[in-house]
Amino acid sequence: MHVSPARFSVLSEDFAADPYRWFAHLREQVPVHHEPAIDSYFLSRHQDVKRVLSDHEAFSTETLQVRAEPVMRGPVLAQMTGAEHTAKRKIVVRAFTGPALERQVRAIRANAAELLAPLLSRGRMDLVNDFGKPFAVQVALDVLGLERRDRQRVAAWHSGVAEFITSLTLTPERRRHCMECAEQLEAYLRPVIEERRRDPGDDLISGLCTAEFDGVAMSDRDVTALIINVLAASTEPADKTLALLFKHLIDHPGQLAQVRRDPELLGAAIAETLRCTPPVQLIPRRAERDCVFAGVTVPAGATVFCMIGAANRDPGAFAAPDTFDIHRPDLGTARSFTAAAEHLAFGSGLHQCVGTAFARAELETVAAMLLPLLDEVRYSPGFRYREAGLYTRGPLSLSLDFTPVR
Ligand code: HEM
Repeated sequence: MHVSPARFSVLSEDFAADPYRWFAHLREQVPVHHEPAIDSYFLSRHQDVKRVLSDHEAFSTETLQVRAEPVMRGPVLAQMTGAEHTAKRKIVVRAFTGPALERQVRAIRANAAELLAPLLSRGRMDLVNDFGKPFAVQVALDVLGLERRDRQRVAAWHSGVAEFITSLTLTPERRRHCMECAEQLEAYLRPVIEERRRDPGDDLISGLCTAEFDGVAMSDRDVTALIINVLAASTEPADKTLALLFKHLIDHPGQLAQVRRDPELLGAAIAETLRCTPPVQLIPRRAERDCVFAGVTVPAGATVFCMIGAANRDPGAFAAPDTFDIHRPDLGTARSFTAAAEHLAFGSGLHQCVGTAFARAELETVAAMLLPLLDEVRYSPGFRYREAGLYTRGPLSLSLDFTPVR
């Protein structure tokens, strides 16, 4: 795409409609793009993004004090450093790995089956709105130990919190709405935290309430922030990845047939979905000193956005990067869910996603359930595919037809 760098804007409608059309232009012509309206720098090359995410001295997560803390009601994991980060990260990881993970997978199956039951006989469902979104919130509620009957109101408050974090420009009215959502979520959590302190169970909220850091229990504010952190971090990327996985497979019927025949390939299909269309498209950092990329100086104090979608399609990192190929030799399924991942969909470095193993188990479990049930799966007649989001991005809906299950 040949466009004068002076005319390009990350905030333009053109970019929002299809950022993937612009990534090669950005990587090749403007690898350091300055967006004057929000005074931020956007980096698109794989090596530059990896450097920002790995060099914790030069690039801090201080941006989150403004971008996340107001709606998380306290400091989130990604803002922490050193021993505090290691200790609190461990508590969260424990809820998503080992025996806890096995328990969660059973709950994932039960949740999926319950939500699918009324949809299957219809022969049509919107995988995003009928299933993926409620499913992801329900799974997060189970992990945290919150009541399933509260799903709709928690989902509504969560969407305000997510809007705050992921908006590059927010009107004062929307900002007020997001803050109200965060306040209501905090008020809802207050008595739950009190109760778990008195009578802990085996859920994540109890784990946070009973854990000690330097011999001192975490304050209600810290526990609240970590709960909202996990709720926000775990739901949106998971439901978007599920819908994107099905979109890629439907668009590549040969690969869909292979995955149907051999569900062991689902891990590779999920990893390739994350590489090709990462649901988290931007990761913000603050430059702590002047740094030079491709001859351009990013000044100390500047906000830097890592463009994950562009980095994951950098031909310097992946051959034929715009092709969806579950057999690509340069990805590596097992590696893709670890710190050694070449794709950057989970970030990289100290703040790499804590939920990688959980996300894989959640998506593999539910996709393995859905594939045999959705026989002859195809887009519904007249369905028009549309994606939205600059910060997190995914399908607005995915209307699918399949053979009704009697
Ligand atoms: C496909 C699903 C997922 C994707 C693509 C994803 C993506 C990411 C990314 C890009 C980051 C790095 C943010 C940064 O460097 O600032 C991150 C961090 C994080 N993710 Fe995930 N995530 C997913 C699922 C989950 C799940 C299921 C959980 C549940 C625990 C989770 C919890 C977190 C937390 C708590 C952090 C902050 C970690 C830290 O700063 O130490 N994520 N995730």
